[in-house]
Amino acid sequence: MQVFERAEELSAFIKKQKDQNLKVGFVPTMGALHEGHLSLVKHSLSENDITIVSIFVNPTQFNNADDLARYPRVPEADLKLLESIATDVVFLPSEKEIYPHGAQSASIDLNGLDHYMEGRFRPGHFQGVVTVVKRLFEIVKPTRAYFGEKDYQQLLIIRYMTRLYNIDTEIISHRIERGPTGLALSSRNELMPDADKDRARDIYAILNWSRDHFREYSPASLQSAVKDRFENTPLELEYALVCNPQTLAPVEEWDENTGARLFIAAYMGKVRLIDNVSLF
Ligand code: PAF
Repeated sequence: MQVFERAEELSAFIKKQKDQNLKVGFVPTMGALHEGHLSLVKHSLSENDITIVSIFVNPTQFNNADDLARYPRVPEADLKLLESIATDVVFLPSEKEIYPHGAQSASIDLNGLDHYMEGRFRPGHFQGVVTVVKRLFEIVKPTRAYFGEKDYQQLLIIRYMTRLYNIDTEIISHRIERGPTGLALSSRNELMPDADKDRARDIYAILNWSRDHFREYSPASLQSAVKDRFENTPLELEYALVCNPQTLAPVEEWDENTGARLFIAAYMGKVRLIDNVSLF
């Protein structure tokens, strides 16, 4: 496994691979890797000749300084995990390497995809995400890049950004990976004591209940029913929204042609968790 810290050196290395017609898969991460990340990396390894994983805790996507400071950073453990599954290349850049002119977000019109959910509750978050992903794509120029459906809104926004800038990278989505209780795998889970991780299983239980019962409700009354269910859990619900899976606009009535997805953000103690499910 080769580790690069300099963007220029990585770009030169990748150019050589692409000159030989090799397909380059890319998995951008912020580290604190878990099985969810590893399954993205394995997905890339299975479809490409060479797989690059970046580890960079991107300051511009945090709208809360505490959240950035508390974000887990364990580069040595991450490298071991990546080596154990035969990752080809890891990119571990410094902030200066990614933001040579200072860490600042671009201001990109995201066609309304950032008006809801995470975009609303974490102002500036997606501008930071697209800024860093665009920069990483410029360095890596991947054939394919892999993103998990837990961050479904991020996935759609990155897909939109690649179309907007004519970036020649195929965006591949990957199913949500879950632990034994159904809790979606996330680096933030490591900020919770085991007892809280166990109590957070209610999120998955409520998503499953919603998928099984949504036809008994209108979208708005399903959202209220979900809120009521959260009242009987140790979690504090931030939002429960039924959205169009393509535009993310709130769904007002069920429509067989567009489908619907339920999105949840909830706090378990101080840890903010997100999850979602396709209703149909
Ligand atoms: O999903 C993440 O871990 C981050 O938002 C990403 C895509 C690596 C950009 O920093």
